[in-house]
Amino acid sequence: MSSVSLQAPRGTRDILAPDSARLRALTQAFAAESELAGYGQVVSPMFEQIEVFRRVGEETDIVSKEMYHFRDPGDRHLALRPELTASVARAFVQHRPPVPWKVWYEGPQFRYEKPQAGRFRQFNQVGAELFGSDDPQADVEVIALAWRFCVALGLRRVRLVVNSLGDRADREAYLAALAGYFGGRADELSAQGRVTLARNPLRLLDSKRPEDRAVVAGAPPIDEFWSPAAAAHFAAVRAGLDALDIPADRQRLLVRGLDYYRRTAFELVSDALDGAQDAVGGGGRYDGLVADLGGPETAGVGFALGVDRLLLACDAEDVFAAPPAAADVYVVDVTGGAEATLLAEELRRAGLRAERAFGGRSMKAQMKSADRSGARWAVLVGPDELADGAVSLRDMRGTQAAGGTAGQSRHPRAGIVAELVARLAAEKGKTP
Ligand code: HAM
Repeated sequence: MSSVSLQAPRGTRDILAPDSARLRALTQAFAAESELAGYGQVVSPMFEQIEVFRRVGEETDIVSKEMYHFRDPGDRHLALRPELTASVARAFVQHRPPVPWKVWYEGPQFRYEKPQAGRFRQFNQVGAELFGSDDPQADVEVIALAWRFCVALGLRRVRLVVNSLGDRADREAYLAALAGYFGGRADELSAQGRVTLARNPLRLLDSKRPEDRAVVAGAPPIDEFWSPAAAAHFAAVRAGLDALDIPADRQRLLVRGLDYYRRTAFELVSDALDGAQDAVGGGGRYDGLVADLGGPETAGVGFALGVDRLLLACDAEDVFAAPPAAADVYVVDVTGGAEATLLAEELRRAGLRAERAFGGRSMKAQMKSADRSGARWAVLVGPDELADGAVSLRDMRGTQAAGGTAGQSRHPRAGIVAELVARLAAEKGKTP
């Protein structure tokens, strides 16, 4: 046997309780917000035919360099999804649901990126997509959903930045202008910048390298290339956000890492996170995507939020703590443990969070565990109690776990579950 210790693959993590409970709570909160706005959940496969992603962006790193792809035993070329918009658009083409089709989703995505703080090879997203409308109010609805969710988490240091990438022809003209501009100043770019220029000049706009930044500062602005329709659409989106008091900064250099965007593009940026990985989410309009995947011309707009980064931002802002995991009741059984099994099961059936010890540990050790569990009440079963058909109930609030019998009372075993249900309900009723 090899002595190499096995670990989760680079760029991936195990998420244990209580962090896993926090992740689930965040997802549930997102589900609730989305469903309030009429979005239904879509659950699509974690892998797709590689074609699905190739068709939406061969020129982007996400598709060309960062995809995990493989051949299955049936020689199908498949890819783990690097994002969900393409998968959901593929599902739209396959099922042709009535429009507007409004969906939300959650789950892991896979990108072979260089791992660092806030950047993983397997990460979670929550997101929403709206297919079948090019109405600027649809953009407003989608952006408002993303924004409202961040605010509901308690995040205050998140900013919304917006831009418009124009229509397909505008974008193409802009790309050509950028290629001309950067081509003329190629010797001032970083070596990596020159590689990017050859691949996709648009991507230079968000280069973080100082040499590139100096050149980027003089690049022609996209506004000059907007068609009148694209300009009017963007103005309507901004007016709609204003009307909802959602502060949006126009960022003229904002481009996104995927190629399918037309018109609206936006990001949510957290000032509480490290600058290199500060985007907690992003999205925009992708009116050509469904047609690119073989469906009818269908407009669409949506976003995804990076859950791992959202939670890092919550840590930095000290909001959205893990939900409390304290037990309601801890059953301490020093008669062998079979009683604890019966009682704990009864308590759980009654909806109480009940814990117990294993392995016949001493009263003192079990009381210590009861204390650590945060249980509100301990139920004690000793030989005397067992003989009398009784249990002792100990109030764990403010009592020394291991010592004395203060705060302890005796109750008939038969009525203890109902008694505890009543006591806990009365207390919960009192807390605001
Ligand atoms: P994206 O900007 O590639 O867009 O990803 C959205 C968010 O996912 C990012 O802002 C970031 O928070 C998170 N994220 C991306 N990569 C990583 C990573 N390696 N580790 C941790 N978090 C990461 C999309 O995925 C589009 N599908 C969004 C969209 C939906 N556009 C329209 N509809």
